Amino acid sequence: MRATLTAPTKEGTAAVATVAIDRRRVVIGRPDGTVAAFSFVWLRHNCPCAACRHPSGQRLVDLLDIPDDIAPGSACIAGDGALEIAWPPDGHVSRYDAAWLAARSLDPAARAARRPRPLLWGAELATRIPRADWAAMCAAPEAEVRALQALVDYGFLIISGVPATSGMVVEVGDRIGHVRVTNYGRYFDVRSVPNPTNLAFTAAALGVHTDNPYRDPTPGLQLLHCLEADAPGGDTILVDGFKAAEDLRDQDPTAFSLLAWLPLDFRFADGEADLATRVPVISTDNEGRITAVHFNNRSMGALDAPEEMVEPWYAAYRKFAALLRRPEAELTLRLAPGDLMVMNNIRTLHGRTEFDINAGRRHLQGCYVDLDGIESRLKVLSRGASRPGAIAEIERMFARRGAESYGEGVSQLEHALQAAALAEQEDKPAAQIVAALLHDIGHLLHDLPEDIADEGVDTRHESLASAWLSQHFGPEVSEPVRLHVAAKRYLCHADSGYFDRLSEASKLSLRLQGGSMTADEAAGFAREPFRAEAIDVRRWDDEAKIVGAATPGLDHFRPLVESLLRR
Ligand code: OGA
Ligand code: ZN
Ligand code: ZN
Repeated sequence: MRATLTAPTKEGTAAVATVAIDRRRVVIGRPDGTVAAFSFVWLRHNCPCAACRHPSGQRLVDLLDIPDDIAPGSACIAGDGALEIAWPPDGHVSRYDAAWLAARSLDPAARAARRPRPLLWGAELATRIPRADWAAMCAAPEAEVRALQALVDYGFLIISGVPATSGMVVEVGDRIGHVRVTNYGRYFDVRSVPNPTNLAFTAAALGVHTDNPYRDPTPGLQLLHCLEADAPGGDTILVDGFKAAEDLRDQDPTAFSLLAWLPLDFRFADGEADLATRVPVISTDNEGRITAVHFNNRSMGALDAPEEMVEPWYAAYRKFAALLRRPEAELTLRLAPGDLMVMNNIRTLHGRTEFDINAGRRHLQGCYVDLDGIESRLKVLSRGASRPGAIAEIERMFARRGAESYGEGVSQLEHALQAAALAEQEDKPAAQIVAALLHDIGHLLHDLPEDIADEGVDTRHESLASAWLSQHFGPEVSEPVRLHVAAKRYLCHADSGYFDRLSEASKLSLRLQGGSMTADEAAGFAREPFRAEAIDVRRWDDEAKIVGAATPGLDHFRPLVESLLRR
């Protein structure tokens, strides 16, 4: 069954959306061509009204109080784009903001965009090691956001300028998250001592490892603060465990599966503690994304598995260990007094070379911090200071994906900069220049392959972009972006020569985007408040494909972006 329930929107609004019922789902069609489906039970259970949600934001409505055959009595789109549903039997009204729904879209591209891929690295990262300055982090939320974001993206961070005094590691840990107390205390000393209970407390080399895999949960972050380091040796080695695991999956999927399936026992025991866990070397989520690596030669136990699995498991483990040991996987650096290294302990493995305590001193202090606190702090800082958060996120998007090919011989970043430069040359207002700069960030937000259009998939990048932009900018930025694909379809209808001037790639994507507009669609577009701006963005978009063109850099546009960010 497919029935339109209500002719949508109040008079005078240009953004006409449709609502239809298809099986047990509400299907919303937006004017930009996006279609989003939400099942009845999902909508009812997520009703945001005051009867269903406590002012704290916590849910009051209980699923078992919702009939299992729940279905809307009526559904319509209000003038502001919100979805409004009245539910039988009592006419309970639910109202879902367009932005709220867009942020929860169950479309595959939107879902992928909500789980950004980690930035995998190897030895080549040596020239651009993620670093931050402690004083700067304390002085400006922007600096702290950048630092924590780098930690999330790369799985480690070096903070310099942390006073080399005992216990400072806890102060840093408690600022960026919450220090976890263990049997080693709130913090512990890493130096060579007599009668050590742990190889770390000797001068021996340590192969790369996860710290404390015998703890449940395994510490999410480890901090190591360098207080003294004039002994020869003792260099730090870091390896991206996720990269090695991805390489293993590419090279030998069976080995990968075995390591992700069979659990391994880890154990640590001394006079006061006896800690044990059982966890696979590689952990994945339900969609196969790698979520953790547990690798530690010192504390791994004897494999406890069906006897016939032992040989194959060892063969797989050997392959993984060899991938971790590749010179091109290893980042070597030397911590100086005042450097504090933060690692995602279930991703980035760390080790050290042997050092000579007869020729100098070496003293680190370490502590553990849970991962959830970092992600929380990052969100709260970005919320309280939306400017730095959004700017950092834009820079990060271009840093992560800007070098990817836009197609037609230019990169995503070149395409963006050329479009913005064209807008600037025409003396357009700041909002237009920023819209031009950011019109394609939808391609940087989703995690689908670059050449996805060749496979006949329209990623709806304009909707992803405008949903993101509308969190931080007004409609003068987000609307032209939302409409820049519609503008192409409109121009194909309204300007007879336009189609022929499009590049081949643009012609291909046009087909996926719905082709030229019909007369009705064009009339709808002509009522859009930001149609003229969208057509401008479209023009610059079409021209911003000049191989090797000189443009200002991203920094040049930063003040403009800043001036338009919402508080
Ligand atoms: C540790 C450790 C590394 C080092 O204490 O967990 O790995 O550089 N130390 O001493
Ligand atoms: Zn409700
Ligand atoms: Zn360690």
